Amino acid sequence: MNKRKKIYEGKAKILYETSDKNILIQHFKDDATAYNNLKKAKVEGKGVLNNRISEYILSSLSDCGIKTHLIKRTNMREQLIHKAEIFPIEFIIRNIATGSLTKRLGVTEGTTLDRPLLEYCLKNDELNDPIISKEHILNFNWASEEDIKQIDKMSLRINDLLLGIFRAIGIKLVDFKLEYGKTYNKNEDKYEIVLADEISPDTCRLWDVKTEKKLDKDRFRKDLGNIIEAYQEVARRLGIMPEETNIKEVNFNKKLSIKFKKR
Ligand code: TMP
Repeated sequence: MNKRKKIYEGKAKILYETSDKNILIQHFKDDATAYNNLKKAKVEGKGVLNNRISEYILSSLSDCGIKTHLIKRTNMREQLIHKAEIFPIEFIIRNIATGSLTKRLGVTEGTTLDRPLLEYCLKNDELNDPIISKEHILNFNWASEEDIKQIDKMSLRINDLLLGIFRAIGIKLVDFKLEYGKTYNKNEDKYEIVLADEISPDTCRLWDVKTEKKLDKDRFRKDLGNIIEAYQEVARRLGIMPEETNIKEVNFNKKLSIKFKKR
């Protein structure tokens, strides 16, 4: 499918139009940002790993009945996705208290929550993605009550599935962020809510079960080093990267030649 005009560039991804108005190309960049763009760097290979990890996770969720925007991964950095009208909300799901939750409420770092905690943040960089309530969402028409009901249900189901996927490979799913959109389903002639964006170590907190070593973007946020090695470790444990591959040795300026295992 031909790549056309760039229609959106975010911090970690670019969206391009294609010849089909309902299908976009999602391109994963190597750029890493934190603290609302105050901290920026290029992390060579991150885009390739997130593309592959996110493809694996969204496909696994799809196999379990979760509707997603993903059509297929087309190369090392790109996926074809269904165009969706994205809700201006970040949906955060937490299993263990850390990050902004502990800062905001003084909850002890590392506390296992009695049940998954759902939070909503407004997607607005200028305002620093403020936390909002369901009342704000309904009052300002950012989504309908029915949409939120359906999204909350989907988020809890996704949490259950992801907890299992990661637990099986010795990783605790601490928290993560989801985005959703509405797409037109031609076959069923109706709009439906789909999981959009990505699920990767950029958008999750992942801790090793035994050592609690961070295998996610906190390595960048907190200057812990070995970011790529951590993302690579997640891919390796998911079984989508051969044991012997060392991404550091791959020249990312050349056409990429890492061989990922087929699902
Ligand atoms: P927080 O503790 O900083 O609120 O983050 C909660 C989770 O959401 C964490 O896994 C990181 C993820 N997240 C994003 O992916 N993008 C964002 O813009 C924010 C604020 C959080």
